[in-house]
Amino acid sequence: MASANTQNPYELAQHAAEFIFKKFGCRHDVLAVLGSGWAHAASVLDATNEISVTEIPGFTKPSAIGHGGSLRSVAVGDSRVLLLTGRTHLYEGHGVNSVVHAVRTAAFAGCKTVVLTNAAGCLRTDWGVGATALISDHINLTGFSPLTGADAPAPLHGRFVDLTDAYSDRLRKIAKQVDPTLHEGVYMGFHGPHFETPAEIRAARVWGADLVGMSTVMETIAARHMGMEVLALSLATNLAAGLSGEKLSGDEVLEIGKASATRVGGLLAEILKQIDAQKSKS
Ligand code: HPA
Repeated sequence: MASANTQNPYELAQHAAEFIFKKFGCRHDVLAVLGSGWAHAASVLDATNEISVTEIPGFTKPSAIGHGGSLRSVAVGDSRVLLLTGRTHLYEGHGVNSVVHAVRTAAFAGCKTVVLTNAAGCLRTDWGVGATALISDHINLTGFSPLTGADAPAPLHGRFVDLTDAYSDRLRKIAKQVDPTLHEGVYMGFHGPHFETPAEIRAARVWGADLVGMSTVMETIAARHMGMEVLALSLATNLAAGLSGEKLSGDEVLEIGKASATRVGGLLAEILKQIDAQKSKS
């Protein structure tokens, strides 16, 4: 099967969207991407159909522990949600087009909204481990952009995408109606897969970051380029490097993810319901 790097990434995404349409038999409205710790949402939301991502043109099976490899079609009210049970990260080495392929595919499949979830290191000691936060903005420290390379075909051409409102105010308000205790903060995206140094975290704080992670920023940029509205949520699985006096480990990220699974999975399911309800009203 063609990889996301061997042909025009937009043609490949269009091809993948056609494949999904044939498999699921309908267009979709929302893409939800489950990051580490968020997989429980998949069991709260009843899928009508499911395929392995290995079947879909251009998709790569995620290699990160805690990430699933399927795409589900879920009815939420009147909306059809594509639920991706795991993502591809830059650090997996398949290239930036692979990282954003699901977002581009979803846009061609009809989705106008994307809900991104992730596990993150937390710079806010007042929030603490297990906190859930809405991303209000990001700082892209990966050194990459999904818009590098050949310009997209019409009507998507134009690389200079405005990111002043990358994360939708409207969707954040909806999420806050569901859970008024949600924090809100700036996410700094690193390439990874190593964790940050304490000096990098001190610098991140000075630059205005509240959360650090290794995902989300490429997908957000690609989604805005495709004209989609973005909501992003982080589960703070650990205090960022140097803040707790403890060493960081991937196991800790997975453990907190597991311990928070029911809560954040339920939260995501409720937010998707509210996004549908408010769409139906408008
Ligand atoms: N840094 C980067 N990514 C992460 C972290 C972290 O501390 N925790 C979970 N994902």
